[in-house]
Amino acid sequence: MARAEWGSRLGFILAAAGSAVGLGAIWKFPYVAAQNGGGAFLVIFLVIVCTLGISLMIAEMSVGASTRRSPVGAYRRLGGKWWSGVGYIGVLCGFLILSFYSVVGGWTIAYIVKSIDGSILTSNPAFLSTTFDSFIADPVLPLWYHAAFMGLTAAVVLAGVQKGIEQVSKYLMVMLFLLVLVLIVRGLTLPGAIDGVLTFLQPDFSKVTPVMVIEAMGLAFFSMSLGMGCMITYGSYASDETYIPNSAGSVIGLTTIICFLSGLMVFPAIFVFGFDPSAGPGLTFITMPAVFSQMSGGQFFGILFFFLLFVAALTSSVSLMEVVVSFFIDEFHLPRTAMTVVMSILMFVLGIGASLSLGVWKDYTLFGKNLFGILDYVSSNLIMPFGGIMVAILVGWKSWPVIADRLTRADGTQPVWLPLLKGFCRYIAPVLIFVILIQNL
Ligand code: TRP
Repeated sequence: MARAEWGSRLGFILAAAGSAVGLGAIWKFPYVAAQNGGGAFLVIFLVIVCTLGISLMIAEMSVGASTRRSPVGAYRRLGGKWWSGVGYIGVLCGFLILSFYSVVGGWTIAYIVKSIDGSILTSNPAFLSTTFDSFIADPVLPLWYHAAFMGLTAAVVLAGVQKGIEQVSKYLMVMLFLLVLVLIVRGLTLPGAIDGVLTFLQPDFSKVTPVMVIEAMGLAFFSMSLGMGCMITYGSYASDETYIPNSAGSVIGLTTIICFLSGLMVFPAIFVFGFDPSAGPGLTFITMPAVFSQMSGGQFFGILFFFLLFVAALTSSVSLMEVVVSFFIDEFHLPRTAMTVVMSILMFVLGIGASLSLGVWKDYTLFGKNLFGILDYVSSNLIMPFGGIMVAILVGWKSWPVIADRLTRADGTQPVWLPLLKGFCRYIAPVLIFVILIQNL
């Protein structure tokens, strides 16, 4: 059977942007930016994305596109037998991330329901905080939502690369963009919104610290889906005519714009109603409902907001599942249907553990972290930076000629920045990421 391929270049870009834009851009970005001095963080984030982010995005996508294999096969072809180990670690990482990502994806569905039935329509933060804490600690309810989210993810992956992932991402990404715009307009038309915008945009460079730079790098990795072979997999479905740097640039551009817009969506409203945007992870599930409860038409906009979060999470979870499933298809020629079903069930089961570790199992800890925390830490803070270093070394040192060839235009000309990319992959990226890795340890 011929290997799957994207139906169009736009489809590829939107699917990859769908992978990137997720809980990272819409949930994490606003509060991490707020905690780190708003505008200054934004500037640092932009600099990192436009250097490290774009280099690794081009590197990953061209590793996939030149080998037409998902990470294990791609690393083996370009690097040899031992390198395929990096691919295996990437597949494992996708498995680990999705198992807890789907739990959070389930929460977004639960909050759509709670917005519809009006049970979170209150401006009392203490009540909202108890509601959230007791919901995620409940031994049963979140598991149903986790199952629903995993089931929806599997349904998209089952339908295949072109008919499933590409089609769904196309519609959902357009919808996501429109939802963000509607919510921004609502926020900006509140009286006094401009102060919120200014806090978000005005850079306070006295707040720039090494820790903040490292934080920005970590967030850039996660919210661009880099470091575990996700973009290798998506790149491997690109047609030979697809010019990777253009696609990579579009994906980085779209994702950065959405990160920026999601700050613009959240800050003004939070500011107007006197809440604290640096409240941390609770910003989305605790502060935002309070904000909506005070706004006219708040219930409607609340529903839209959680639906937006759900859409963003779904197109990302699909990419994580595709990394795992495509491994079995490429390496063992196993059928997509069976592997999607089997893997979804296994990831669902691990996710049950992650969900329960926030409630009844919270006393089972390792290094002071519960299972949810361990899965998050190991995947985002250890495996992803490791994967980032490895893909940079592979591209910069081991297989540069193959990559340079894939990055040469159809008319035989090479982009002027090609040596820059090589230097970045050889020296700068590995060193920078190594610093993050050490810091995380
Ligand atoms: N980028 C997604 C987000 O921001 C999460 C994600 C999907 C991801 N695929 C990934 C993160 C691969 C790292 C690697 O929510």
